[in-house]
Amino acid sequence: MSSIESLLEKDDLAPAREASATMKALLYRHPGQRAWEEMPRPVLQAATDAIVRITTSTICGTDLHILKGDVPTVTDGRILGHEGVGVVEETGAAVSRIRRGDKVLISCITSCGRCDFCKKGMYSHCRDGGWILGNTIDGTQAEYVRIPHAETSLHPLPPDANEEAMVMLSDVLPTGFECGVRNGRLKPGDTLAIVGAGPVGLAALLTAQLYSPALIVMIDVDENRLDASRGLGATHTVDSGDGKAVEKVMELTGGAGVDVAIEAVGIPATFDICQSILAPGGHLANVGVHGKPVELRLQKLWSHNVTLTTGLVDTVTTPMLLKMVLSGRLRPQKLVTHRFDMIDVMSAYNTFGNAANQGALKVLLRTA
Ligand SMILES: NC(=O)c1ccc[n+]([C@@H]2O[C@H](COP(=O)([O-])OP(=O)(O)OC[C@H]3O[C@@H](n4cnc5c(N)ncnc54)[C@H](O)[C@@H]3O)[C@@H](O)[C@H]2O)c1
Ligand SMILES: [Zn+2]
Ligand SMILES: [Zn+2]
Repeated sequence: MSSIESLLEKDDLAPAREASATMKALLYRHPGQRAWEEMPRPVLQAATDAIVRITTSTICGTDLHILKGDVPTVTDGRILGHEGVGVVEETGAAVSRIRRGDKVLISCITSCGRCDFCKKGMYSHCRDGGWILGNTIDGTQAEYVRIPHAETSLHPLPPDANEEAMVMLSDVLPTGFECGVRNGRLKPGDTLAIVGAGPVGLAALLTAQLYSPALIVMIDVDENRLDASRGLGATHTVDSGDGKAVEKVMELTGGAGVDVAIEAVGIPATFDICQSILAPGGHLANVGVHGKPVELRLQKLWSHNVTLTTGLVDTVTTPMLLKMVLSGRLRPQKLVTHRFDMIDVMSAYNTFGNAANQGALKVLLRTA
């Protein structure tokens, strides 16, 4: 074959290759607008990358913040999603521990495992990672996703792992545990209040029980979610809609206040409840993403020997939580209320965006 013929043949093949190299994905366009569109399939860009075919994904409250335009790092055309389970399709030359065909859990936090922050276990601040999926690089609400630093950002799963449980390990379970329970230094016998019974607050509720607190009060304004909290182990629930949450918690604790208060909403009113119900020596663990300043009542707290912690999830506890979920000790699949095919992701967003009316907690997206 002459060189001209071979060139022609390559050109003939090009359109066919291109056609098969597309996929469907959920894109952020601009505030208030999302679209389900045909996109090029991701390709390996670095030797440490892997391409994963998504089998299960889900929508996070943070995706709703992005759609409102609250997260300026997300730009027009970005594929959303930072949670997922899938099957490895292709790996870069430097990836040896994960192979094509492996079932994997995708961590919402990408970590190189080598930089100064990764070495301190602060993967959320990784110099070449952190929360980038569905933020500064394309995410998991798609048929395929490129995962940088695949060996440290993916967790191999047994082929028969329950995907509904596993996908809760991408974000909500480590977030509730690390930023809430662990930062709050919860101990056996402690009194605990969790403000916010969304998926993150409920993940804190599930993992808090590993420490056997004596009292667990869940506080929210959504009766459905308070109901769900009782089913998941809350000893008491408080509807804060009447503005009397502080009085009710003080009553439940005989006037003492709680040892640990977890803030899992992200607004000044709920931070205020937390600082008002803290017992001397207590821990206030903030999990919520705040867009506005809060009033810190230091004039009251200065003498109370309290600690206040903040944190972006590092996902360092994912391997440990994974073992507990695989053994059935933790059952985060209880947070799943709705299931959609990935191609119906636009409807899934409508359901999740109206969570209170729809009784929605975690809304799953599955590919065929
Ligand atoms: N720190 C991290 O690394 C991290 C990671 C993931 C999510 N988050 C944040 O955690 C928070 C919770 O996430 P989620 O997905 O569970 O959110 P969500 O919106 O589903 O849940 C928030 C809950 O707060 C309740 N609420 C609203 N106003 C209230 C009020 N005034 N009093 C009491 N309850 C009230 C709502 O009814 C809802 O049930 C969000 O701010 C999210 O952005 C933080
Ligand atoms: Zn999230
Ligand atoms: Zn790093």
